[in-house]
Amino acid sequence: MEKILIVDDDEGLVHFLERFFLKKGYAARSCNSGQSALEAMAHEQFDLILMDYKMPGLNGLDTLREIRRSQVKTPVIIMTAYGSTDIAIETMKLGAYDYLVKPFDRDELQRIAADALEVNRLVKEEVCFPGHICRPSISSKGTVKIVGNTRRMQEVYKLIGQVAGKDVTVLIMGESGTGKELVARAIYHHSHRKDKPFLAINCAAIPETLLESELFGYERGAFSGAERTHLGKFERCQDGTLFFDEIGDMSLSTQAKVLRVLQYGEFERLGGNQNLKVNVRIIAATNKNLEKEVQEGRFRKDLYWRLKVISIQLPPLRERREDIPLLVEYFVNRFSEEYQTPIRYVAGAAIEKLKSHSWPGNVRELENCLRRAVLLSVGDVILEEHLQIDADQQDLRGGSQYQLMASLDKKLEELLPDILRFSGEKTHANVIDMVEKSLIAKVLKKCGYNQVKAARMLGISRNTLRHRIKKFNFQVPADFPENAKRPETE
Ligand SMILES: Nc1ncnc2c1ncn2[C@@H]1O[C@H](COP(=O)(O)OP(=O)(O)OP(=O)(O)O)[C@@H](O)[C@H]1O
Ligand SMILES: [Mg+2]
Repeated sequence: MEKILIVDDDEGLVHFLERFFLKKGYAARSCNSGQSALEAMAHEQFDLILMDYKMPGLNGLDTLREIRRSQVKTPVIIMTAYGSTDIAIETMKLGAYDYLVKPFDRDELQRIAADALEVNRLVKEEVCFPGHICRPSISSKGTVKIVGNTRRMQEVYKLIGQVAGKDVTVLIMGESGTGKELVARAIYHHSHRKDKPFLAINCAAIPETLLESELFGYERGAFSGAERTHLGKFERCQDGTLFFDEIGDMSLSTQAKVLRVLQYGEFERLGGNQNLKVNVRIIAATNKNLEKEVQEGRFRKDLYWRLKVISIQLPPLRERREDIPLLVEYFVNRFSEEYQTPIRYVAGAAIEKLKSHSWPGNVRELENCLRRAVLLSVGDVILEEHLQIDADQQDLRGGSQYQLMASLDKKLEELLPDILRFSGEKTHANVIDMVEKSLIAKVLKKCGYNQVKAARMLGISRNTLRHRIKKFNFQVPADFPENAKRPETE
């Protein structure tokens, strides 16, 4: 269970926060001064610290300095009264994770705390790989392993070992589920920057404008809704490592700004004109063929060249089937422990079945298949029948419905935190609306805004389409007058 420390001299707020986190399934502990918080931290590790800035005795800033000495990696969120955002920004420069302006609402608290806990997991759970010594676990989170002994994987380990300590940009390529994020984290954990932040950003999961504000931050008033200055990931990652996941999905204009940071170490917050300097190591990953993206004009050549100086290509699982028994052992042990279901052995026929599958979803798919098998197993044995590898999954490879569903599923999982953050209480209705709006916009464009064709392609009546166009306020281009003239019932 993740542990949260609340530090505030306001008893009412402490009570509210404790109840809030307990209800969400975390363990919460509280202290009413900076001094007592430091004492608590001398005996206990926390996963997140929420701390008031203004307290009698040690204030938030002084306490933060001390925390950085003892619990280097634990994210700290500073709570501050309205009007003191400048102070809050100062604390972030000293390594606070983020700040909350009192009074804050539950959604904001939930979002910031969830983000911070995710970062905590990423930095504290150390990733090990064969041939390299892992430090003893730095927290209760322990370690995870990159598993595999084939020659292709040995080459990967060698490269990780060679580049980790060199402070260079690294590009990790490979199909979905091959372990790109795991490799990025292994590089971070074996680098000189291991005690500094590791922040990740998924370029495919966030719309372009939001991605820029997440990366570069914005000034108060930069756009409507920008009520407070927001520090972006670059600024919060000073001296740390920034992981750009799915960099192939980054828009050309954002690519230009990122290139500037890579070349000159400088950027501006959105709506700001101050040139900010930053020292960040970038690790990027993609499942796209970036060379092809460059040829087709979707990715900047100069950025590509800069990124690919050191690149690591992860093999798909089907090209390293000899590793499957090892991976099976690793995952079965892990899930047996996690679900307290002791598994004594995996039948030979089950291993053969796993070895003969093509694994379009790579290690992630194998991991999920084994998780299910451990949960479904009867007694302490995993048999062939406990493995759900649908025959149609095997047959419908390539552009199959299964793959489509899998990638939709994955995208949704990535987007879920943002969806929950932005859709308020009507998550279901809002998500359906968002998907429908995006789908209709794309089909309309594909059909040259011909509503008859679009309705046919969507499998809805023209009337329904017209209602949606109105509902979503689409601007159908004026150079398609036939759209307006067509009779209602088609
Ligand atoms: N070699 C490996 N050994 C152990 N676990 C692995 C290995 N490769 C991947 N995994 C596990 O498989 C899952 C997917 O890995 P990861 O997220 O790193 O893949 P990815 O390449 O980033 O995928 P995507 O492109 O879909 O984001 C994770 O749970 C990870 O721990
Ligand atoms: Mg990934």
